[in-house]
Amino acid sequence: MAVGFNRTVIFLLLVAAALWRCSSAATYTVGDSLGWTVPPNPTIYSDWASTKTFVVGDILVFNFASGRHDVTEVTKSASDSCNGSNPISVENNSPARITLTSAGDHHFICSFPGHCSNGQKLSITVRPATSSPAPQPSSPSPSAVPVPASVPTPSLAPEPSSSGRSPSPSPSSSPSSPVPSPAPSREPMTYVVGDSFGWNIPTSPTFYDSWAQGKTFVVGDVLEFNFVIQRHNVAKVTKDNFTSCNGESPISVSPNPPVRIILSEPGEHFFICAFSGHCSLGQKLAVNVTAGATTPPSSIASPPSDIIPSTPSPTTAPPPPNAATSLRASAFSATLLAVAVALVY
Ligand SMILES: *[C@@H]1O[C@H](CO)[C@@H](O)[C@H](O)[C@H]1NC(C)=O
Ligand SMILES: *[C@@H]1O[C@H](CO)[C@@H](O)[C@H](O)[C@H]1NC(C)=O
Repeated sequence: MAVGFNRTVIFLLLVAAALWRCSSAATYTVGDSLGWTVPPNPTIYSDWASTKTFVVGDILVFNFASGRHDVTEVTKSASDSCNGSNPISVENNSPARITLTSAGDHHFICSFPGHCSNGQKLSITVRPATSSPAPQPSSPSPSAVPVPASVPTPSLAPEPSSSGRSPSPSPSSSPSSPVPSPAPSREPMTYVVGDSFGWNIPTSPTFYDSWAQGKTFVVGDVLEFNFVIQRHNVAKVTKDNFTSCNGESPISVSPNPPVRIILSEPGEHFFICAFSGHCSLGQKLAVNVTAGATTPPSSIASPPSDIIPSTPSPTTAPPPPNAATSLRASAFSATLLAVAVALVY
């Protein structure tokens, strides 16, 4: 009898320990599928971070094109000014796995020229590992949401001043706006259509819709279509022909990959593959292009006011139940249970 109970206790303790170990090292992929790049929208990384609770021991994974970006940890002021010349650490090779070893604010930028000032920066608040499980973020309270360094976090001692930088509202951020947000002032970007999937018949007919959703296309941006030559092409078509998948009289056809199309005009642009049947299976892409920068380049960091969208923008999924936190909570409960059982028997 007693032996049986002891085995149960040991088993529960082992389960608790295992749960605790995996829960104490939550791994976060920065930017999720976007990875670590110059984002199409300068608030993407602050939006991404705002749904997470980081704890000492957690790991950030930065996926990027090595040699095209880096991960530079810097001080708050260097992050505010996008100055990577005196870094705390630099990771040049992707994927960069960074273990959060200390509590407090951490600031990461890409030190390649122009990248940080166009939004390739991440500021997070890391909580001590010993703190009790954070409340479930059904409605994130301000103190539970990491905010970029430009805003003093309410739960922490605010920095004395934010280095005199006057917050300038960026044009890129009105989450409640029904139309695509105004173009952020930034350098033209190249979008690889479908990312690593390329330009193919997708498994889901809405694949390219989803790909385009949440991206901001600005005049001057480039769409790059990658595909196997003579198996696909890129036909620019009218809206009607896009809707009916009619590639008969396209505006233009580009047969030779990689096809790089410069979005030279604002408005809607429609692309299909004119190979028979491909468009109707979903190989079609519509993008909304906004006029180029209409405002002077905003000074460096994103403004504080728009960090937490009141309504989820297309680029950010609504905050999911915080898996790491619930794991922690369950590990905690399991530990308590095991200890209780051990005490009783
Ligand atoms: C960047 O920071 C370094 C010191 O950390 C400073 O010497 C340099 O002047 C700064 N550069 C700019 C452009 O502010
Ligand atoms: C482009 O934006 C307009 C206005 O918001 C919208 O009506 C239209 O459906 C959009 N088109 C595409 C292809 O997303």
